[in-house]
Amino acid sequence: MILVTGGAGFIGSNFVLDWLADFDEPVINLDSLTYAGNRENLISLIGDDRHLFVHGDIADQALVAGLLNSHQPRAIINFAAESHVDRSIHGPEAFIQTNIVGTFRLLDTVRSYWAGLECDAKSAFRFLHVSTDEVYGSLAPSDPAFTESHCYEPNSPYSASKAASDHLVRAYYHTYGLPVLRTNCSNNYGPYHFPEKLIPLMIVNALAGKPLPVYGDGMQMRDWLYVKDHCGAIREVLAHGRVGEVYNVGGWNEKPNIEIVKTVCGLLDELRPRDDGKPYSAQINYVKDRPGHDRRYAIDASKIQRELGWKPAETFDTGIRKTVQWYLANFEWVANVQSGAYRKWIDTHYAEASIT
Ligand code: NAD
Ligand code: DAU
Repeated sequence: MILVTGGAGFIGSNFVLDWLADFDEPVINLDSLTYAGNRENLISLIGDDRHLFVHGDIADQALVAGLLNSHQPRAIINFAAESHVDRSIHGPEAFIQTNIVGTFRLLDTVRSYWAGLECDAKSAFRFLHVSTDEVYGSLAPSDPAFTESHCYEPNSPYSASKAASDHLVRAYYHTYGLPVLRTNCSNNYGPYHFPEKLIPLMIVNALAGKPLPVYGDGMQMRDWLYVKDHCGAIREVLAHGRVGEVYNVGGWNEKPNIEIVKTVCGLLDELRPRDDGKPYSAQINYVKDRPGHDRRYAIDASKIQRELGWKPAETFDTGIRKTVQWYLANFEWVANVQSGAYRKWIDTHYAEASIT
């Protein structure tokens, strides 16, 4: 079996659902259920004995050691993290705790377990750490896209904490020989994306008749990848990646934020037109920029294509259409995640952002 951490979050839950749709190999899913973790994402697995959900923290070494020793997983895929840049600006400490201390404790517990494995199991074992393109910093308009050898220049507390975790994973390979793999991916979008992030926030605000807050001039560039393509890339790296290597994962879909927002508005105009016949783009509202906002990310994903034959299956046009359709069909899921704590974040953060 495999052990997945953070498997009740956005990417982790897509990964677990896709894994169990394709393979019979069981999954232990360790998640501490922060505001971003949602067991409703996994509702279709109720009664499926290939899925064992464990409510707990990656930093709890006794819990993790117990899980490893009793279930003997052949691999760990570490998704667990605090993941929202804006929250890291408001309150960095949770990011330091989970992304740095948590990853360190997880690595150290895994190292003890791995050291005690028999020869074959020991060499087959893998620790795959899921990371982000944000660790590389920000690009100028004409810079080439990030390759795996780009220097680390993280600019937000979030990206700094992910960079630190990447360094720890690298160190556990070089120092102790732990068979690690790392992936650094661009912006994901798709089902179960928590509506604090750009695309789902735009969909839910548009439908609620609320302003669509675009930071600064809206010309920041991101590379967008459909979440199920990211999950497929992780499966490839896990199966065939070279130990100790880093693989950049991206969608070859670099776009300015304002274009993303207008695309979402256009799809909603088509699929769920406003009652007054006006376009959803009328709700676009430019607000104060994110402090230290990275201007441009771009991923060169040619290594994973060359070595492992992976490339995205979805274009942005097909992926964003599926995403908008998913939110329209799953509005109950959205309503359920918009709890009191969610509303408090939105009210506080955007009250500050609208003061320009
Ligand atoms: P998310 O915030 O939606 O989910 C994170 C999950 O981790 C939640 O279920 C949460 O409960 C859990 N978690 C948090 N702290 C934990 C802890 N201490 N112990 C156990 N579980 C804990 O995040 P996501 O968007 O699904 O991102 C998953 C991973 O992928 C993260 O490591 C993130 O840095 C990375 N990543 C995300 C993107 C993206 O666009 N979302 C892109 C590249 C990389
Ligand atoms: O690049 C990978 C990263 O992508 C992941 O590592 C992070 O976990 C993930 O959250 C994401 O980070 P971003 O900061 O790029 O994503 P977010 O959806 O928060 O913002 C995308 C862009 O849209 C960014 O330039 C900020 C802008 N934005 C965001 C929000 C929430 C707005 O203009 N308005 C908004 O209300």
